[in-house]
Amino acid sequence: MDLYILTLFPHYFDPFLENSILGTAIQKKLLNIHLMNFRDFSLDKHSKVDDLPYGGGSGMVLQVEPLWRAYQAIPKPVRENATVILPSPRGVLFKQEKAMALSKEPNLIFICGQYKGIDQRVQKLLGAQEISIGDYVLTGGELPALILLNAIARFVPGVLGDLDSALSDSFTSSPDLLGAPAYSRPVEFQGLTVPPVLLSGNHQEIQKWRETQALITTLKNRPDLLQNSDLTPTQKKLLKDFKGDQEPSPS
Ligand code: ADE
Repeated sequence: MDLYILTLFPHYFDPFLENSILGTAIQKKLLNIHLMNFRDFSLDKHSKVDDLPYGGGSGMVLQVEPLWRAYQAIPKPVRENATVILPSPRGVLFKQEKAMALSKEPNLIFICGQYKGIDQRVQKLLGAQEISIGDYVLTGGELPALILLNAIARFVPGVLGDLDSALSDSFTSSPDLLGAPAYSRPVEFQGLTVPPVLLSGNHQEIQKWRETQALITTLKNRPDLLQNSDLTPTQKKLLKDFKGDQEPSPS
């Protein structure tokens, strides 16, 4: 997958793209990242890329021209076959489903804004999808772009050693459920023990426990996720049979 990132701060991305799972995926050429500083495409003698908003108001607006010129510098076959993403608090809320869908695209182009916003003609000209990562405002589009990229990359074949693991995460089931809690060695630490069912070797019981925990946690932390979805009869039964919290407790 080819990913172009148009930004004023290309070095912002370095540590995230050099380390961990994304770093390895880039080394393996599963992801080809191209960072472009769109300031390089300004025609202004001081390389200015922003100006005052028409209609007045606070803050500066990123101008359409340098971004359009940077976009035009992306090889034609790539840009003509790319999905353009504009991280913005004004966008559609990002979901796991969207991450999965975008992972199937051959090329992605991210446009990272700063200041008050980006001239809306950029969205129009590039047919960009405005995507929000949550109901809060960050100082720029770089972190949101990294978050989107990270979530999308996990579904690109070969990026995770075990794609099944991504498919069993929170938000990947229907209805959307949070993941079950996980435990590893030691069995006991500071008086807290691992739930016995996980040590039982009974895979059916373990699966049932995980599904119940996922349901309970979702009800507790994100009841909104269950609001518009019908629970399956099995899930209803799991909830009915649930006998108290099986979180570790001091023994
Ligand atoms: N840029 C600033 N805040 C943002 C948000 N919440 N989502 C996407 N892009 C942003």
